[in-house]
Amino acid sequence: MDISGKVMVVTGASSGIGAATARAAASRGARLVLAARNQERLDELAEEIGGALTVATDMRRPDQISRLFEAVIDRHDRVDVLVNNAGQGLHVPVEQIKIDDLIAITELNVYGALRAMQAAIPLMRAAGGGSIVNVSSGTTQMANPVGTAAYSATKAGLNMLSRAARAELADDGIAVSTVYPFVTKTEFHNKLRAGSMSTAGSQL
Ligand SMILES: NC(=O)c1ccc[n+]([C@@H]2O[C@H](COP(=O)([O-])OP(=O)(O)OC[C@H]3O[C@@H](n4cnc5c(N)ncnc54)[C@H](OP(=O)(O)O)[C@@H]3O)[C@@H](O)[C@H]2O)c1
Repeated sequence: MDISGKVMVVTGASSGIGAATARAAASRGARLVLAARNQERLDELAEEIGGALTVATDMRRPDQISRLFEAVIDRHDRVDVLVNNAGQGLHVPVEQIKIDDLIAITELNVYGALRAMQAAIPLMRAAGGGSIVNVSSGTTQMANPVGTAAYSATKAGLNMLSRAARAELADDGIAVSTVYPFVTKTEFHNKLRAGSMSTAGSQL
């Protein structure tokens, strides 16, 4: 796939998989738009990769997602690739899941990703196509996702949004992909909404 010159929006670009994705895409000539809450980290990464638009964005906030895409249109007037990567984990047994925690990670892992897709789709369609990459989780593929029920439920929701969108958007030339990372050394496991790998009794 030739991504040289393509406008690529990466959410959760301030660390981990999102930052690594941005670095890899920049090295192949993509024009990056970096989104996450931590503006300072986004600016550092932008400098490292030779320039990028950075937009501090809380992906739980619909107004901030709208502002992100307005900034993209102002700068580039198009979106070719959206990497819906921002996400947070929650590792507690089913019996102890707090609904407020589940709501918070659903707002980020499902609603935030959906809103970004809904902002990007008409722009991609108008440009004749594009690519949406949704970062899910290997926990949704495990037979016994012990301790990750709430988190994997949100990512399973994202999987189904991806599957339906893939079929719905095929005729528009918009590819929808789902990535299933397994345990990856990032800040993710230190920034869980609640619980920990050990308290969850997780087999990960
Ligand atoms: N690491 C793993 O083992 C693993 C396994 C399976 C799936 N994943 C998935 O991979 C994706 C990337 O995670 P990672 O491992 O790279 O973890 P990470 O290093 O913790 O990165 C998470 C990213 O999401 C951003 N983020 C968190 N809350 C946000 C919010 N409310 N609004 C906007 N951005 C927000 C963070 O930036 P700010 O704090 O600056 O906002 C950060 O850039 C996630 O969707 C995660 O569920 C990871």
